[in-house]
Amino acid sequence: MKKKVYVKSYGCQMNAYDAERMADVLAPEGFIETDCADEADLIVLNTCHIREKAAEKVYSELGRLRVMKDERAAGGNAPTIVVAGCVAQAEGGEILRRAPAVDLVVGPQSYHNLPGLLAKARRERVVDTEFPVEDKFDHLPAPSRDKIRARGVSAFLTIQEGCDKFCTFCVVPYTRGAEVSRPVAKILVEAERLAQAGVREFTVIGQNVNAWHGEGPDGRAWSFGALLRRLAEVPGIARLRYTTSHPRDMDDELIAAHRDLPALMPYLHLPVQSGSDRILAAMNRRHTGDDYRRIIERTRAARPDIALSSDFIVGFPGETDADFEDTLRLIRETGFASAFSFKYSPRPGTPAAEMADQVPEDVKSARLATLQEALETDRQRFNRATVGRTFDVLVERKGRHAGQMAGKSPWLQAVQFDDDTVAIGDIVSVEITGTGPNSLFGKRAGAAEAADAA
Ligand code: SAH
Ligand code: SF4
Ligand code: F3S
Repeated sequence: MKKKVYVKSYGCQMNAYDAERMADVLAPEGFIETDCADEADLIVLNTCHIREKAAEKVYSELGRLRVMKDERAAGGNAPTIVVAGCVAQAEGGEILRRAPAVDLVVGPQSYHNLPGLLAKARRERVVDTEFPVEDKFDHLPAPSRDKIRARGVSAFLTIQEGCDKFCTFCVVPYTRGAEVSRPVAKILVEAERLAQAGVREFTVIGQNVNAWHGEGPDGRAWSFGALLRRLAEVPGIARLRYTTSHPRDMDDELIAAHRDLPALMPYLHLPVQSGSDRILAAMNRRHTGDDYRRIIERTRAARPDIALSSDFIVGFPGETDADFEDTLRLIRETGFASAFSFKYSPRPGTPAAEMADQVPEDVKSARLATLQEALETDRQRFNRATVGRTFDVLVERKGRHAGQMAGKSPWLQAVQFDDDTVAIGDIVSVEITGTGPNSLFGKRAGAAEAADAA
């Protein structure tokens, strides 16, 4: 009988990608995926350590799983429980102490060893948070064509991992290790396999995706822009996106790619964190607010319809009302189509956690509310501006209601539209007729309407 694995992923796209690859590693062991924890023989929590709340969520989930495991143990089918991802890396054996239900703790660089680790975990509780010298990607089996198809027409493609930037608030350099770029040849093998199975869109991912560098087949040094050019040539690929990028790595070649590559979607997620130069310096971001403005200006000159997105942190240690005002000013001046914003969360082992003048929680909350209101107003304005316009939508799935399909606009907006004659993976022209809180609504452009025909 087939065994079932349930993988729950928290945090960023890197984790979402890793979750799929863990399922791929387990498939040859006879595991099929389920989205129901209650029927799983193996439960994997793929965790995130970026903010305290994210990390604590794992322990409340583990508390629930402990009850479930005990109940099922009575029937002789207790599941094996694995903690993977960044909390695993950061806390290691501490997790075994705090959470008695856990059988195995495995870090983000060791999950290619899952089969062996699971065998070991049958005998004793196991922790593996090594940064092995071998490349885990070399040990990951490729997913089957059917599996790629089932995952959809839009796929993540990891090209870079880890981070050497050491922003003073951030755990990623510690949980994910040093910055490593995957070689071009290996990226292309994976890209072509995905495309042959029907993938139409790549979201190229890395903790600092635009810091990627490598050697091209021509023997020359390739930057990220050159890699995007090559990926745009993969047969079947209609759309390229990338995330997450750092302002310091927005070089001329990447900006030129936005000008030259029709497949590169007009959307840029470029975290700025703060608009105050003083705070940016304390964060070790190594750019100013004006540096950021210039990058945006140049990118908009290259691709006038580009939509911008960003990440913001409020309440970093020492942030004054004036610093916060600088952030609001940058938001007003830039006009973001979407954004993520967070209250600063002190993380163990990071320099900012030790800084004096931590900002009180109520001040952080008030600033976050103000900031989010400004960002939400801009987001709604951006979405409303699409009403009456017609553009291409990549069809990703069936829509919410019968007769509807759903997909994405070039600017990463979810679009629901009336028409069920198109196939998933098609790119169709849709006229936008209205907006909801999180989606646009439309109809196939050019499709005859009953009302018109009458
Ligand atoms: N590599 C990406 C971001 C990775 S983390 C980059 O450099 O932009 C994703 C986002 O989480 C960050 O952009 C930041 O806004 C937020 N974040 C990271 N550490 C945080 C902390 N300690 N408290 C609050 N937000 C944090
Ligand atoms: Fe964290 Fe900064 Fe690296 Fe992004 S660039 S992952 S915020 S240390
Ligand atoms: Fe979280 Fe690790 Fe990603 S800390 S944001 S899952 S790199």
